[in-house]
Amino acid sequence: MAKRTAAEKRLLEKAAKYLPGASLGNVFQKPEEAFLIARGKGSHVWDVSGNEYIDFLLGSGPELLGHSHPAVNDAVRAVLDDGATFFHTNEKSVLLAEEICKAVPCAERVRFFSAGSEATFHAMRVCRAYRKRDKVLKFEGGYHGTSDYGWVSINPANPPPLPQPVPESAGMPKAAVDLVLVAPFNDLEATNAIIGKHHNDLACVIVEPLQRIIPPVPGFLKGLREISSHYHIPLIFDEVVTGFRLAYGGGQEYYGVTPDLCTMAKAIGGGFPLSAVAGCAEIMDYYDPNAVAKSDYVYTVGTLSGNPIACAAGLATLKVLKKKGAYERLHAVGSRLRSELSRILTEAEIPNQVVGEDTCFDVYFQETPVTTYRSTLKADKAMLNKYNAAMLQNGVIKGGQKYYVSLAHTDEDVERTIKAFKAVAEALRG
Ligand SMILES: Cc1ncc(COP(=O)(O)O)c(C=O)c1O
Repeated sequence: MAKRTAAEKRLLEKAAKYLPGASLGNVFQKPEEAFLIARGKGSHVWDVSGNEYIDFLLGSGPELLGHSHPAVNDAVRAVLDDGATFFHTNEKSVLLAEEICKAVPCAERVRFFSAGSEATFHAMRVCRAYRKRDKVLKFEGGYHGTSDYGWVSINPANPPPLPQPVPESAGMPKAAVDLVLVAPFNDLEATNAIIGKHHNDLACVIVEPLQRIIPPVPGFLKGLREISSHYHIPLIFDEVVTGFRLAYGGGQEYYGVTPDLCTMAKAIGGGFPLSAVAGCAEIMDYYDPNAVAKSDYVYTVGTLSGNPIACAAGLATLKVLKKKGAYERLHAVGSRLRSELSRILTEAEIPNQVVGEDTCFDVYFQETPVTTYRSTLKADKAMLNKYNAAMLQNGVIKGGQKYYVSLAHTDEDVERTIKAFKAVAEALRG
């Protein structure tokens, strides 16, 4: 266990006193294992006591270039003296919207927000206005943030027959949850049956093209595109994670299927609070009071929406990602890590399924292949917890079930992480 300085212990006591669960709500730690992050640089973070970690959490994804990237910091410094926020439409937000429209296949217009949850909420709302219907279809195991429509059937322990929704938090109105239908990701036949039965009520279908870390099986996204087009139900790709991560054009470029709308966050703000809905003009124009009837207009307003500092950070991030070789490097690093993880666990005779794409992956501790949410229910969760704790002890910080790869991870980081895989596999076997 890493040593804690008196200064960090004092801060941890304050955290326990002033923050519910001593937490921001994102990560909860046992008091005896708790630590606070003080700073990050490149692919590494340091806790308040000065212990260093290789970081595959990356702020839960946004730090695709690594922490404190010089190009991002320079861009932010350059605009800081010009004011922090305006509410008014600003120069940087227009330039970022232009770049997103050039990069992302479905994007003809962009509406900015601050958080991913806000973007998915507003994407679903604009579809309701467009189709004049209330229900949305999401997929079991899919994550779309914390709105009353998104926070449904993400991790149900005893999933009911589909399309029945399961609220994932106390305090969610039943009336809102009942507007959500749930389908099995990667099961096109069952999904088509649900859509076929309920198409007259559906305002939209929302899906993560890479669901958490489960890739779409061949033909699934294409089939979803076909049936949603057939019934004229808008298809939303939630690209909060996959946008600019899987490819410059996101999951829709990577998997070759274009939705009507997409949501983005994380990478587009370069670590600053920024999210967006982007998509075809026909639907996006419902956000324009001059383009549609007053009764069709979808109101969105956010004090910090399109914040110029976040947009400047985003523009600088995209400029780096656009450089030749950026995605080749990201994929090469992730590809080596995930193949080594799988090899090392298999050699240690630990049942494992390493799942995901090169830039975003992890392991399920189970013998059987992972394709749907329900196929993961038998995974050994106690083993996952032990493995996460052991990785941390070996100086690697990661999400609960996700490695995010960055452009800042060096070959040395990769070798050190592989060494950690070996030490952890030994510990898990023992
Ligand atoms: C796919 C997806 N959608 C939406 C969200 C919500 O984003 P935020 O946490 O910024 O509200 C997340 C967050 O991780 C996400 O992974």
